[in-house]
Amino acid sequence: MHEQAPPCLSEISRTGAQELLLRLELERESGRQTACLLLVHASKYAVLSGQPESVLHPEELKYFHSLSALKRKTDYLLGRYAAKRALLYLSPTPSAPDIHIRPGVFQQPVVIGRGCEELSACITHSGTFAAAIAFPTGHPLGIDIEWHDNAVLETLKQHVESPELPPTELCASEVERYIRVWTVKESLSKILQCGLTTPFSVLKLRADPIPNRRAWSGEFENFSQYRFISLSSPQLSFALVHPRRTKVVLPIEQIINFTS
Ligand SMILES: CC(C)(COP(=O)(O)OP(=O)(O)OC[C@H]1O[C@@H](n2cnc3c(N)ncnc32)[C@H](O)[C@@H]1OP(=O)(O)O)[C@@H](O)C(=O)NCCC(=O)NCCS
Repeated sequence: MHEQAPPCLSEISRTGAQELLLRLELERESGRQTACLLLVHASKYAVLSGQPESVLHPEELKYFHSLSALKRKTDYLLGRYAAKRALLYLSPTPSAPDIHIRPGVFQQPVVIGRGCEELSACITHSGTFAAAIAFPTGHPLGIDIEWHDNAVLETLKQHVESPELPPTELCASEVERYIRVWTVKESLSKILQCGLTTPFSVLKLRADPIPNRRAWSGEFENFSQYRFISLSSPQLSFALVHPRRTKVVLPIEQIINFTS
């Protein structure tokens, strides 16, 4: 979803950790692979923006300096930082500025760099957080985070069908119910690389009949090869879409606590 007005950077403060790195095992009948998820709080921008060349490739640095809006600069730098930390966890060979994450023709992130030839990343930013997941290119994953912004509720109601919504008792607010559906669809759209230019109805989801209190999960009407996991803190929803036959154990409490 395109960003709402962000909290002013000077208002952002955080006493706890600024980032959370999680190793995720991707278990399949044929074997096991590894992905890495990194969530970062916007308070990290103050340090990173003082030395963006320690994170960004020279081409990315040029783009970063061409940006005028602070919100986009923050999202871009934190998103690239998260993706590179996650990529370096999976392939420790290059340093962050050696990795170039350039936009493909659909604006999808394309990872270029020695040691990262078989790796990809998915990036997301919203409110005061950014996140990225790095994974083997042969095993696609999609993520999305979205701030619970009441201002988008009426718009979402026009795009989300009632049967798709999570049960009321699973969510703290009405906006959370709609945003959880939105994040799941956006995650799928990133795997498919079509973005939300695809009609929303095509990305229709079908939740599991018995909801789990902490993580809402299910599948898709038109993309039976994928499943989703959705979770939420009071201010933010998070979704992961993964291949159906892969078991992914998400440390749900850690993500909820970090984003609370
Ligand atoms: C993909 C999309 C749903 C993301 O929405 P958003 O509100 O920007 O949300 P997020 O912050 O969660 O995600 C942004 C990230 O998604 C990634 N992204 C953008 N387009 C993508 C696509 N088509 N496929 C996969 N990932 C994509 C980028 O890495 C981007 O971050 P970056 O610009 O800092 O690199 C939205 O940008 C969209 O619908 N794009 C359509 C793109 C498209 O088809 N363009 C055609 C132009 S020819």
